[in-house]
Amino acid sequence: MKVDVILGLQWGDEGKGKIVDVFTPHYDIIARFQGGPNAGHTIEFDGKKFVLHTIPSGIFHRSTTNLIGNGVIIDPYIFICEVDKLAGSGIHAEENLLISNRAHLILPTHRLLDTVSETLKGQSKIGSTLKGIGPTYTDKYARNGLRAGNLNEPDFMERYQALKEMHFQTIRSICSDISGLTLDGHSFEDYEKKWFEAIERMKKFRMVNSEQFLNKSLDEGKTVMAEGAQGSLLDVDFGSYPFVTSSNTIAAGACSGLGISPHRIGRIYGIFKAYCTRVGSGPFPTELHDDIGASLRRCGNEFGSTTGRPRRCGWLDLPALKYSIMVNGVDSLIMMKADVMNTFEKICVCTEYKTGGHVTDEFPFELSDTTLEPVYKEMEGWNQPLDKVKSINELPEKLTEYIRFIEKETGVSVEIVSVGPDRTQTLKR
Ligand code: GDP
Ligand code: IMO
Ligand code: MG
Repeated sequence: MKVDVILGLQWGDEGKGKIVDVFTPHYDIIARFQGGPNAGHTIEFDGKKFVLHTIPSGIFHRSTTNLIGNGVIIDPYIFICEVDKLAGSGIHAEENLLISNRAHLILPTHRLLDTVSETLKGQSKIGSTLKGIGPTYTDKYARNGLRAGNLNEPDFMERYQALKEMHFQTIRSICSDISGLTLDGHSFEDYEKKWFEAIERMKKFRMVNSEQFLNKSLDEGKTVMAEGAQGSLLDVDFGSYPFVTSSNTIAAGACSGLGISPHRIGRIYGIFKAYCTRVGSGPFPTELHDDIGASLRRCGNEFGSTTGRPRRCGWLDLPALKYSIMVNGVDSLIMMKADVMNTFEKICVCTEYKTGGHVTDEFPFELSDTTLEPVYKEMEGWNQPLDKVKSINELPEKLTEYIRFIEKETGVSVEIVSVGPDRTQTLKR
């Protein structure tokens, strides 16, 4: 058996959570392979809405095993808050959730370091979610990190204190006064206390050698879906660096983030919105600063699932989408949030960038708002509601033309069109 991959092709928040949940009944295992609680994956069904940060989006189906892979980083406190929230709705994550013992831990001081690093950057800050993502992956690659599998070891406390002290040395060398630094409104001491309480509860979850568990499961004929977080344009190698996250969000990340061979990758599903959004700083060539941008934000409810920040909105960017499709080797496209543009009379789509006197559809080394000018193709909007539509084949003609144009430009077919946040608002062919 092979591992199918589902990932975002833009700057995150494409709707990965919704689609993973919709696909879950077809899979035995759903595995997150990178990122941490910077992610916010929304799932809506039966009038209820859930936002997951660390737990895979397959958790609502009891017969599916969910796995937090080795490539993911975990803040025990945020993780336990998530577990408790689910339990409040009768979903008991401990029944069908496994954690890789190789997954690294986000320490409270990683979060402090994140804040300090962003403050130091001033105007050029990344716009991080401040969940400690950059510092935790830095420690992983600097070979300083603590992993979930270390939690039960006798020297855990000693190692924690040593790492914490190292972090504080750095923090003190930058900030003379750290008394005002808080974590989600808690003092450092308070947060650290909750973090340790959370660790005691996290120890009760099943921790496994997840690469062995997954490969064995595949050998036994089990079906696996890898769930990406963030989006390809936030990938640390191929995104709009330095305005990126600190992991490989692309399909290749599923191999290193789960311990599976590239031979074992099956279908790669790429998710994109019918337009673009970005939260945080960084270049966004098709961003709309006008009423249309505001309308996308309002109709699409474009506010961060993790931080609540308003998302920047703009037209679909085809050079960027084609680039993401290329680096991921996308087999099938899934278009989200088509309904958000239901009232638009005209729609624009960026087909190329004008730069230095010439036109190109190549995604550049340095994405820029000042040196790149998007070239737009204007298309007629469908300008009607989509609630009565039951399949892709019944979509209004103008929306079908928009989809065909995207398929022609990218060379990949759109297999699912999402027309609302609920599970049921998902159109297939
Ligand atoms: P993720 O991070 O990729 O899982 O996406 P988020 O959950 O952060 O953001 C997607 C948002 O769009 C969520 O609020 C979803 O409930 C919502 N959503 C998903 N699909 C659709 C859709 O087709 N139409 C509309 N209007 N909302 C959608
Ligand atoms: P999901 O999985 C959208 C953005 C942040 C910031 C940059 C770096 O919900 O799609 P970090 O916290 O990683 O240091 O932030 O990346 N970012 C996301 N934007 N969706 C996400 O996840 C994101 N995770 C990080 O806003 O610009
Ligand atoms: Mg999100």
